[in-house]
Amino acid sequence: MADAITLPPQVSPPAVTLDERVPHAVAGAEVIALPVLPGESLMLGPGAAALADAASDLDLLGILEAEHASGKAGEVVSYVVPGGVRGNKALRRILLVGVGAQRPVDFRRAGVAVARATRDLSTVATTIPALDPDVAVEPFVVGVTLASFSFDWRASGPVHRPVGSVVLAELGSAYDGSLSRSVAVATAGWRSRFLATVPSNIKNPAWLAEQALTIADASGLKVKVWDEQQLAKEGFGGLLGVGSGSPTPPRLIRLDYAPPKASRKTPTVALVGKGITFDTGGLNLKPGDSMTTMKRDMTGGAIVLSTMAALAAVGCPVRVVGLVAAAENAVSGSSMRPGDVLRHFPGDKTARTSEVTNTDAEGRLVLADAMAYAVAQVKPDVIVDVATLTGAIKVALGQQVGGLFANHDVLAAILEGAAEATGEPLWRMPLSSTYEDKLASPIADADNSAGTPQAITAALFLQHFAGGLPWAHLDLASVGDTPEDRDEWTKGPSGWGARTLLTWLGSPEPLAGVV
Ligand code: BES
Ligand code: MN
Ligand code: ZN
Repeated sequence: MADAITLPPQVSPPAVTLDERVPHAVAGAEVIALPVLPGESLMLGPGAAALADAASDLDLLGILEAEHASGKAGEVVSYVVPGGVRGNKALRRILLVGVGAQRPVDFRRAGVAVARATRDLSTVATTIPALDPDVAVEPFVVGVTLASFSFDWRASGPVHRPVGSVVLAELGSAYDGSLSRSVAVATAGWRSRFLATVPSNIKNPAWLAEQALTIADASGLKVKVWDEQQLAKEGFGGLLGVGSGSPTPPRLIRLDYAPPKASRKTPTVALVGKGITFDTGGLNLKPGDSMTTMKRDMTGGAIVLSTMAALAAVGCPVRVVGLVAAAENAVSGSSMRPGDVLRHFPGDKTARTSEVTNTDAEGRLVLADAMAYAVAQVKPDVIVDVATLTGAIKVALGQQVGGLFANHDVLAAILEGAAEATGEPLWRMPLSSTYEDKLASPIADADNSAGTPQAITAALFLQHFAGGLPWAHLDLASVGDTPEDRDEWTKGPSGWGARTLLTWLGSPEPLAGVV
């Protein structure tokens, strides 16, 4: 009998390539997608004139007019050309795609529209990025890739398959670098969404560690994984406490990236991800409705792994150490109890302790260990932690904006800027010290569930483990799930955050003004 819990093969993202030719001349192009520019009278972008020569009876502007097209970003008018055009008998369909104001967001929307309109087809050639390649290539590639994501475990296979190949026409090898960087960013989004979507009957801490080993191998990163015995020996009491109720014990994962020209002076960023592979709440059990999406409580860890995998491809100029604190927050006789006191890394008498007043506030307990380890052993210049930490951030920001906390204004501004640019907006929340008193525990250094305002008290709890370094905390519980298909997101776990970290770490001077 076959193993009942083997993940079937999943669909792959479309292959994106460059081609100097006009789109309808691209061999095998079944569909071409041409940009439509809004304005007093609509205009067509590159590729349209050449197409008019190859099909003189085709009145594209007339078609747009008849369809009352506006040229707004992502609008699609689809026109069937049975029998193809001169020079491409395989061509079946022309997509006229609005590009709006031609900002990055508009090109992302256009990419999304092309993905949705070409599902189950083989090849689409498009001149949308050729309109303004320096602005358009990355958002277009991100949009066309991420809107193609799906995850499937049906006996009958995926309902739809992404278009096999996306050819960026009228663009030559001058854009090779831009394309490979764009593909790396898009792939990181895809990978973090994939990891967050895998169900937790497969995805336990050891499985996540295996994914890290695969990534390290493929991306040339150093990797280290702590199993439960090593965690115990080195005093990771937070991870062990949270993981104690599960038959699949916790892991700490470390990946190291160094840029090709690294010297002793090259600064280091530590990325720390919450890797709760399932959050039942523990003995403070979540109600069923709140638990249904908790397979994705390792989204922070998925973002860290996916970002690490792509750092070389985006030319990251600083050292980056990625840490994922992986545990399953389960219910059993060996689960941690309300009232338990956990001793964080390094487990000796210098280590901070936490009183567990709510076993469902587990994320901060595992992050605390990994952050304390980072400060002591990695000795980074900057720490950024990423976590689906509190339901409260979702109440505050809804499901389309992530939460950002930081003890450093320049770092906060850089991350806000990167997030905005790549389409994963973050809103800075206050680390109000006025709530610090709420962390007090009668017996330990802190209470793990200090009360309202919960997103802020959670951030204040973590701040004690940042060692006074410039630190930012991304609470992505708000955006971890997409309720319905929207823009480049597909329904389900979103993987939100990897693009932001790569936009930041792939910039020429990620730490300008910070260190
Ligand atoms: N994983 C949850 C946070 C969460 C909630 C993520 C909703 C995504 C959607 C976290 O571990 C949690 O349970 N937080 C509690 C904290 C409370 C017990 C102090 C919460 O926010 O309710
Ligand atoms: Mn929880
Ligand atoms: Zn959680």
